[in-house]
Amino acid sequence: PITAFLFDLDGVIVDTAIYHYQAWKRLANELGFDISEEFNERLKGVSRTDSLDIILEHGGLTLPDEEKTQLAAQKNQWYLELVSRMTPEDILPGVANFFSQVRKANLLTAIGSVSKNAPLILERIGLSDTFDAIIDGTKISKGKPDPEVFTKGAAELGVSPAECVVFEDAVAGVEAGRRGGMFVVGLGSPDVLTQADLVAPSLEHLSVQEVLDRAQAVS
Ligand code: G6P
Ligand code: MG
Repeated sequence: PITAFLFDLDGVIVDTAIYHYQAWKRLANELGFDISEEFNERLKGVSRTDSLDIILEHGGLTLPDEEKTQLAAQKNQWYLELVSRMTPEDILPGVANFFSQVRKANLLTAIGSVSKNAPLILERIGLSDTFDAIIDGTKISKGKPDPEVFTKGAAELGVSPAECVVFEDAVAGVEAGRRGGMFVVGLGSPDVLTQADLVAPSLEHLSVQEVLDRAQAVS
């Protein structure tokens, strides 16, 4: 049976994905090129250093490590300026209602985010004490699409991967969940999240029962 739900944070619970994009775009612009929203899909769920490598490759730039460290720090500073204004009102529509259904169903919950800023964001939006486990970018060595963030989440909850459902808005995150042996709900466009087991526009468009029915049908 399904006993646990593992949630990505950025783009699933709160719309920080847009802030990551804005900060990366600003960095690319300063380096003399641009990134599109379509290109940004490749960055979602990908760690800070891996994202920078993808962006520099896109711009045709090869830079020494010290400079890359500085650029990553600059992007993070801009990102933090954007998220510092966040409040519980920034929680995405449907999340509160979905979580109350999760609690009624007695499911375990975890956050699986490669963001080193995940604890700060959870605090800003008042959800620090909502989850049974929080795996963030400081607890893992490999970012998505590697499954580590989700397999660690399952381990911390004391459940097997087959008992877990992953909620993801990123191509890399959907792949991570699948590679971890979990049922994956993609939140976004079915044209983008082609590997997901089930796709909905957002948590607002799903019920817990519907997810459990679909996940248990394939297990
Ligand atoms: C999440 C976001 C990515 C971001 C990554 C690292 O997975 O979807 O866009 O690059 O976290 O975030 P951080 O806050 O550590 O730079
Ligand atoms: Mg995400």
